[in-house]
This record gives sequence, C-alpha cells and structure tokens, in this order.
Amino acid sequence: MHKKITIVGSGNVGATTAHWMAAKGLADIVLLDVIEGVPEGKGLDLLEAMPIAGKDIEIKGTENYADSANSDIVVITAGVARKPGMSRDDLLNINLKIMRDVTAEVVKHSPKCILIIVSNPLDAMAYAAYKVSGFPRHRVIGMAGVLDTARFRAFIAQELKVSVSDVTAFVLGGHGDTMVPLPRYSSVGGIPITEMLGGETIARLVERTRGGGGEIVKYLKTGSAFYAPGAAVTEMVESILEGRNRILPCAAYLEGEYGIHGLFMGVPCKLGERGIEQVLEIKLTEQERAEFDKSANAVKALAAEVEANLARAAAS
Ligand code: LAC
Repeated sequence: MHKKITIVGSGNVGATTAHWMAAKGLADIVLLDVIEGVPEGKGLDLLEAMPIAGKDIEIKGTENYADSANSDIVVITAGVARKPGMSRDDLLNINLKIMRDVTAEVVKHSPKCILIIVSNPLDAMAYAAYKVSGFPRHRVIGMAGVLDTARFRAFIAQELKVSVSDVTAFVLGGHGDTMVPLPRYSSVGGIPITEMLGGETIARLVERTRGGGGEIVKYLKTGSAFYAPGAAVTEMVESILEGRNRILPCAAYLEGEYGIHGLFMGVPCKLGERGIEQVLEIKLTEQERAEFDKSANAVKALAAEVEANLARAAAS
C-alpha cells in the first residue's frame, strides 16, 4: 500500500512541495487548504501530469480534513509569507493562530503521523505544533536546515565552479538572521572549504546564506521562496518514508542537547522511519558556541511569545 502524505496549504510552498514529491512518486498526496477550489484545482492539475511523469500515485485536493485521515506524514505550510522589509519573526501572531487551528485538526485525523513544519517563523511554529499536538518530540520536525544548507551549497559550488553533488554544508541554530553556518564542517569532496576559500570569501558566502530567504523576498516582492523549500521538505520526507537514516539538519525539540532545554533549534538529525531517530551533537568552538547561544536567545524570545499566546487561548 502507498504511504500517504498530506500537505496543508496549497500556496506556492505547499503546491511546489506536492510537485516535487509527485515527480518522485513518493506517496499518495492530499493537498489541503481552506481556499475553496484552489487545492482541488492544483491537485487535479498535478494528477493529470502523472501519466507523463509515469507515477501511479493518487493526488487529491480538498478543504476537508477528513480526507487527510491516517496520513503517515503531514507537512504544514499554511500561513502568510513575508513581504519585503519584514523579518520572519513579524509573521508570528498571524501564523500562530493558523498553526494552532491546523495542528489541532491534523492531529484529530492522523494521530500517529509525523509532522513537518514549514511555516514561519519556523522555530516558533514548530514549537507551537509540538505543544498543541502533544506528540513525542521525534514526530515534530521543522524544515529549515536542509534549505539553508542547500543555499550555502549552491553558493559554494558557484564560487568554486564544482558540482553541487560534491558540496556538503552545515548550518546550525534558528532559521533566521542569527543562523550559524559552520564553514569548518562544510566541504567539497571531503575537503573543508576553509582549505579552498579565503576567509573573506567564506564570510561573504555565509552572509549571503543568512540572508538567502530575504534575497528571494526582495526579488519577488509579494512572497517568499518556494522551489528550494519544497525540494528541502521532499528530501526529508524521502529519508523518513524510505527509512534511509540520512543525516540532515532539521529543527528539533532539544532536551539538553547543545545545552538547550525545551526549544526547537536547527541541529544535525538522523531522519528515519520514526522521524527524528537521533540528534547528533558536535563540539563547538568558542566563537561557534557564542553564535549558537545568540541564535538560541532569539528563538527563546519567540517561544515565550508562543507560550503566552497558547496560555491565553486556553484560558479564553
Ligand atoms: C526562506 C523562507 C521560506 O528561507 O523562510 O526562504
């Protein structure tokens, strides 16, 4: 039997994620949104592409959560995207209410699913989904690091004129301006980039990676990136459904790892059948540690806002 994936949100990110997944024939796909007709239309359009792609999967667009029942994985992309001049954090209040409602519905219909959160501000939205779902931490995962490292990899490959396939990269911390790309763990064919690029060049690529989401928003003006985010989610889903145990950077709920308690932060994770099979810890240099702590403080402030908001909602 095919596995089942529900994608909540049929905007650019949701629909593009569905597109990447369908092209690989990963699973049956339910595209769910509240905007009448849009998920149905996009779902049907994608279904009609399957004879060309040669993939025998079912694709259904719907406004009804009952259609998402018993999904193996639910990807939540619902929410509004940034406009130029906004930070991801500016989206907190509006997207938090959406995340609360969506998570509650999803959990009702797919109590055993693995949640992958994509909406921004990412680390805070993952935190909200974790709290609202009551799921164990290995089943709530935030997508950020695969996207951020893909950007870093693309820039490194362009700079050195080498295949993207041979470039690996490492980014820790929150999915925001304080993210921590780690050059000494980023390599080309196994050679650390610190051996191949000068300090100034690396600093330029690191800055571009930190601002990678914003660079796209500036061009698009009415929204944020979706091709690379959709591809990133797809890579995570593939590792989970196929039990590949890939080591991918994800936002995970930390319970003491990296000295952090009770926050979602980007860290290297082993992704397999159960979701996050393991959080991998590495030793940080003093400077990396300082940058990681700064990132954790930014994430902590947003998590406190989520906590206060959830408490207000519970009391009302
Ligand atoms: C980005 C948004 C989606 O990084 O967070 O492009």
